[in-house]
Amino acid sequence: MTPAAPRPHASRPGKPLAGHLSVPGDKSISHRALIFGALAVGETEVTGLLEGEDVLRTAAAMRAMGAEVERLGEGHWRVRGVGVGGFSEPADVLDMGNAGTGARLVMGLVASQPFTAIFTGDASLRRRPMGRVVEPLSRIGAQFIGRSGGRLPLAVVGATHPLPIEYELPVASAQVKSAVLLAGLNAPGITRVIEHEATRDHTENLLRHFGAEIMVETTKEGGRIISLVGQPELKPSRIQVPGDPSSAAFPLVAALITPGAEITVEGVGINPLRTGLFDTLRDMGGDLTLSNQRDQGGEPVADITARHSTLKGITVPPERAPSMIDEYPILFVAAACAVGETVVRGAKELRVKESDRLAAMARALSANGVALEELEDGLILRGNGTAPKGGAKVATELDHRIAMSALVLGLAAKDGVSVDDVGMIDTSFPGFVALMQGLGADVAPV
Ligand code: S3P
Repeated sequence: MTPAAPRPHASRPGKPLAGHLSVPGDKSISHRALIFGALAVGETEVTGLLEGEDVLRTAAAMRAMGAEVERLGEGHWRVRGVGVGGFSEPADVLDMGNAGTGARLVMGLVASQPFTAIFTGDASLRRRPMGRVVEPLSRIGAQFIGRSGGRLPLAVVGATHPLPIEYELPVASAQVKSAVLLAGLNAPGITRVIEHEATRDHTENLLRHFGAEIMVETTKEGGRIISLVGQPELKPSRIQVPGDPSSAAFPLVAALITPGAEITVEGVGINPLRTGLFDTLRDMGGDLTLSNQRDQGGEPVADITARHSTLKGITVPPERAPSMIDEYPILFVAAACAVGETVVRGAKELRVKESDRLAAMARALSANGVALEELEDGLILRGNGTAPKGGAKVATELDHRIAMSALVLGLAAKDGVSVDDVGMIDTSFPGFVALMQGLGADVAPV
């Protein structure tokens, strides 16, 4: 496949941002909705599905293993599942594109199926560590042939007689937890995952929603023990995917840092294991208010209003990392516009995301006049409350969140900011540029 030509864009300060909007469906829940639909016997209907590149790759993988996955309309999909043990061997390599979540969750699924599947992805995904899923899935009985560090391309030979395991997560990762639970679905007996820090629990919620027997205990230290009874018959269901808080974060921070702005993002998921950024922004003095809180298919949602605020630097509690892991790039932008020092530690996982986000954001912000220090596991940013100078071009490094963060920074930076390519934004937030323009933002191709 020939890669698409890069689409450089630039943003600069303009009129105050204003308006009501909704953001595309939650990426984590969208991947899982398709996977659980494929695991159930019968028809699952999904509305509000994120139709970003990452999720479309998961849809293609489910089709390649025998599920019927059909698009009925915008965000409206139907999946006819094959049952927990009913998948068939894919006839070709599964190309998961840019998606770590898609790759790791589908590997979990394949690990307990009696066939072989070969996974690959784009240059970013091929650099990312897969050892963290290879290790527990090998204990279940799967075999792996991959590049050094278990990197893609990688062949998974699924176990014919998968074993239920008890696994203590060595890193706080919802992807690893989910891979083990998905593999455990096709193993007899109880699969148990122990996490020392709670990570997003969409897999557990959906397992329950589809009728699996699952028990979650909370430990005194704030961790969780998740026990799943294997080989259930999952019942098809309806899923209404909430707006992605990780996407809402970009227009919300844009409003906080641009004078005169007031915007409302409607229908955003506010699962407490996802909202660490909103707590942090409030601690920094950000005017964020929640209204119209409601339940949507087992997940809490709300409308979130952000108004321009004078932000102050804080020390971000490291234990908050799992609940805001994808939001650090945009938090760094907020911190760059704040008064005083913002200290972020305990965020080493950022080095193995779609890019090394600590290094990529440190480069992007320093080039645009932000004073900072890069640490092994975080950043210290020093803002003086005035807009950063800007004027530099940011390399997005195949990372959607670096691209969006840089364009949001440009809305506040004196000389604006440009990015080398907005193409990757489609992996998680198709329509981002148009949506920001709809709020009055000056973002345009260059
Ligand atoms: C995700 C888990 C997180 C997150 C990713 C989505 C998920 O990754 O960064 O964007 O849907 O389970 P890790 O499990 O690597 O922390």
